[in-house]
Amino acid sequence: MRRLCVALDTHLEQALRLVELLKGYPLIYKIGYKLFVSNGVEVIRKVRDIDPSAELFLDLKLHDIPNSVRNGVISATNLGVDYLTLHTLGGSEMIKRASEVKGTLKLLGVTLLTSHGEEYLKELGISLSKEELILKLAQIGLKNGCDGLVCSAHEVAYLKETLGNFIAVVPGIRPYKVEGDDQRRIALPEEAVERGADIIVVGRPILKADEPRKVIEDILKRTGQ
Ligand code: C5P
Repeated sequence: MRRLCVALDTHLEQALRLVELLKGYPLIYKIGYKLFVSNGVEVIRKVRDIDPSAELFLDLKLHDIPNSVRNGVISATNLGVDYLTLHTLGGSEMIKRASEVKGTLKLLGVTLLTSHGEEYLKELGISLSKEELILKLAQIGLKNGCDGLVCSAHEVAYLKETLGNFIAVVPGIRPYKVEGDDQRRIALPEEAVERGADIIVVGRPILKADEPRKVIEDILKRTGQ
């Protein structure tokens, strides 16, 4: 299984330049709003043309009525992407209907966004703690057909211990920690893998690197690939 996912959160030209430069490494490319909304399915074809072996992760975090999400999943399977995200907040029925049509695509459930704190739960009138809500949403996701979950490095071990195995996709990775980093949100690649991450997602440290290949080689080595 490929371990390192590069978040292509940039414009088309830089994204394709990077894919060209990184051709041949065992990578997953994450395509999100920035690239997909501007360039549509063309971006999928273009990445594939450059590196046919690349795995593709469409990060659209679907959340709608069950039938609409199901249709979105069917469209994603037709594109041949390998991973797709949806919000577990969409509920059991939405996830179930989506998972019925996923084929070989891996569905990844997003629980609570890291940008949401306790204040947000209070605003919604939810009396659960953040941790309790994350666990509940993770359970709903896995029970109804998600293959994996997007989670942070500090919760991955607990979730796997409590819920059993799943594909754990962990963002918030930095190759090096610097003074002032929030230790709870940020983890080193090897730390995340040690705690149970199956796929680590890295964006800016690669996008902004002078020598992206060096960063990739370093992370692959440190995560045993
Ligand atoms: O911070 P970085 O550029 O490495 O982020 C890469 C990806 O990880 C982004 O595409 C973002 O969607 C995702 N991310 C996330 N949750 C966070 C931080 C980043 O899902 N707390």
